[in-house]
Amino acid sequence: MKKHILVVPGDGIGAEVTTVGKQVLEAIARKFGHEFTYDEALIGHVAIEATGSPLPGETLTKMRAADAILFGAVGHPKYDNDPTAKVRPEQGLLQMRKELGLYANLRPIKLFDELLDASSIKPEILRGADILFFRELTGDVYFGKRERLDEGNTAYDTMIYSKYEVERIVRKAFEAARTRNKRLCSVDKANVLESSRLWREVVQAIAPEYADVEVEHQFIDAAAMLLIKDPKRFDVVVTGNLFGDILTDEASQIAGSMGMLASASVGDNTGVYEPIHGSAHDITGKGVANPLASVLSVALMLDISFGLKAEAEAVVGAVDAVLKAGYRTRDIAGPTTQPEHVLGTDAMGQQILQLLQA
Ligand code: NAD
Ligand code: IPM
Ligand code: MN
Repeated sequence: MKKHILVVPGDGIGAEVTTVGKQVLEAIARKFGHEFTYDEALIGHVAIEATGSPLPGETLTKMRAADAILFGAVGHPKYDNDPTAKVRPEQGLLQMRKELGLYANLRPIKLFDELLDASSIKPEILRGADILFFRELTGDVYFGKRERLDEGNTAYDTMIYSKYEVERIVRKAFEAARTRNKRLCSVDKANVLESSRLWREVVQAIAPEYADVEVEHQFIDAAAMLLIKDPKRFDVVVTGNLFGDILTDEASQIAGSMGMLASASVGDNTGVYEPIHGSAHDITGKGVANPLASVLSVALMLDISFGLKAEAEAVVGAVDAVLKAGYRTRDIAGPTTQPEHVLGTDAMGQQILQLLQA
């Protein structure tokens, strides 16, 4: 199979982890006889520095021409600590999502058994947890009108959803639930927010079409609690952009670390495959970032954008085997990890590559 992949490393550890992700793609192409070609483009802080824009036109053109995009992360402490900055790295990410129509962000929370002791949650609560989040990605308070009033002393953001926007993500979630354990939890704040009442109405209206799927509604505050109390009660979860952002960072603790969570952003055009984590300034340049979220994002790309199931399974299998062999990056090392098994980003990548070359 011939595919053209755009690598967009972005900022901070984004560059460190996508290097490993790309090596995994190259290894898969060799092993299975595919022809993958690559290009690279700028986004975020590095793009602002080079061009003045967080999403240069050239990057967008390359994105539209690619069969899939391997994305790293954006963000820089300079902007995090300067609320007055008008141009920000994150604008590049949000504009990319809007321009490419990436309205569905799939965030699978899968716990590798070997990582039971890497989480701060008790193993008996965690064992068997397997959740698929559908986070709406191009609407909500992220894209609603925002403004400063009163000479800058008052500010507002608008949480806004249209029926159409809710319908398309909810249908995707129902379809996925059908292929899994047929349970769908919709998360909102319908006891307070009008946009959430519309959300709930839409879910209720669609539910009869999927009578084989058991639907429940939870408020965001209760859902945040239940996720930690009893993660196994969830199968597929569908929610809005902001609630989904927060709940999935929380859910990363079910999988052991932010460094383990991959995601697929899909919609009308080219799919973007990216870890859920950010540019992690605190560990940038130290060579300790966990590359497995990027590696698992490659598996999602192979499966979802290219339909290459065996190839995707080979990647996930390699991650599983490396963890079974006891290798860990620092973030997922547990009390039983032998010190010589704690690897940096590149060494962890090499372990995965060796298995894929075998
Ligand atoms: P973060 O996800 O970058 O880091 C949170 C914590 O998790 C940090 O302690 C970090 O060291 C750890 N961590 C994250 N990824 C890791 C990995 N692969 N291996 C080991 N440890 C890992 O979130 P933050 O600190 O809130 O934000 C830092 C910057 O990243 C900000 O500028 C923010 O806007 C940006 N951000 C970008 C994205 C994205 O590009 N998709 C996502 C989240 C945050
Ligand atoms: C994510 C990030 C982004 C978001 C930020 C950096 C804009 O946290 O991809 O989860 O909030 O969507
Ligand atoms: Mn986030």
